[in-house]
This record gives sequence, structure tokens and C-alpha cells, in this order.
Amino acid sequence: MNYWIAPSILAADFSRLGDEIRAVLEAGADLIHFDVMDNHYVPNLSVGPLVLTALRDAGIDCTMDVHLMVKPVDRLIGDFLTSGADIISIHPESTEHLHRSLALIREGGARAGIVFNPATSIALLEEVIDLVDLVLIMSVNPGFGGQAFIASSLEKLRLARNVIDASGNEIRLEIDGGIKADNIADAARAGADTFVAGSAIFGSADYPATITTMRENLAAA
Ligand code: DX5
Ligand code: ZN
Repeated sequence: MNYWIAPSILAADFSRLGDEIRAVLEAGADLIHFDVMDNHYVPNLSVGPLVLTALRDAGIDCTMDVHLMVKPVDRLIGDFLTSGADIISIHPESTEHLHRSLALIREGGARAGIVFNPATSIALLEEVIDLVDLVLIMSVNPGFGGQAFIASSLEKLRLARNVIDASGNEIRLEIDGGIKADNIADAARAGADTFVAGSAIFGSADYPATITTMRENLAAA
């Protein structure tokens, strides 16, 4: 299995963001998870497209996995396409017309992701399965890093895995929230192949050691 580990910038030292990203990439991260919060859809405020543009201008060319927690979302999809996002994921609650918003992402040349909150049913996944390249299951309520993993997310991962496999489409299944070295294998066994980790990586003293332990635990899953 080709597992991807995606450190979330939310837990990085923002005064040295470029260096922090280079450090986790050097430590073995596969892509960078870029959390965008608007103090409206979620009760927190993070960073916008200017910051992604600055990182690209500074030569950071890794896969950027942009998680939009903003409402309305459509205009910012355009901004993040221009800034150099590779993957853009959106919440169904953040748009009046999910089908159109997902199409906007692909038309702009990025991969499209759909995000399910802990209390959101994945029933509509089948309706948009041909429009998405990534399904993101939230294992915390969006808005903050450092929260505890919600165990029922494992069942939601299994359900999503079944829908993805039945479609035959090439779609990543990502888990976000409360992922640590000691529960990453549980998420893999439930069907996840892409793992966001903020505080578990950036909050650790040794990024390579933390990512290596995660990979060892994934290999044994
Ligand atoms: C929460 C964000 C997450 C968060 C994860 O709204 O979407 O990506 O940064 O942080 P940890 O890994 O600390 O739970
Ligand atoms: Zn996120």
C-alpha cells in the first residue's frame, strides 16, 4: 500500500513556516496539508492564498493539499488554484452547489476533495463519486489542531472505503484529526491511505523519528 503522510501546517511554527515545511519534507513527509479557516465556517482563523503564493515563490514545490474550511467557498477555490494548490478539498456545508464547486476545482487543474465532518453522513458520496479524487474523513470537528480522535470515524472510513472501491475510481481516502503514531495503523486498517498529522509531527522534538515510527506502524498495519 502506498501510504501518504501529510503534516498539517496548523501546528507548525508560523514565524518560520517555510523552514518548517522543508524540515518535514526532508523528514519524509509525502505532501503538506494546508488548513484554511475563516472564523465563519469554523471558529478559527488561519492563513489564506497569499501565504501559499509566498511558499511557492520561495521554491517549495511539494504537493499542497489545501483543506478549505471557509464559507462561501467558490471564490477562494479560484484564488487557491492561482496560488498553486494541487489538491483542494471542500465541505458540502460550505457551498450551495457542491457539484459545481467540485467541478470548479478540476476545471482549474487541481484534484478535488470532499470532506465529511463527524456528524455528516457520507450518503451523498455516491452522488459525487465521479467528481472527486480524494475523500477526507474528519476525525475531529474542524477548527482546531490538537483535539482527540473521535473513534466512530473508523466506521466512517470503512463505509467510505467500500464506496470508493465499488466505484473503481482512483480516489485517495484521507483521515484528519487526532492522528498519532499509536492510532495511525487503526486508520489504515479501516481503509485510510493518506494521514494528516499536525500536532503529532510538528509538536514532536524529532520530525524524522516521528515520521519513521508512523511509517513502521503503517507497514505493520
Ligand atoms: C482541523 C484541521 C486539521 C488539524 C489537525 O480543523 O483540519 O488538519 O490541523 O491537527 P491534529 O493532527 O493536531 O489533530
Ligand atoms: Zn485539515
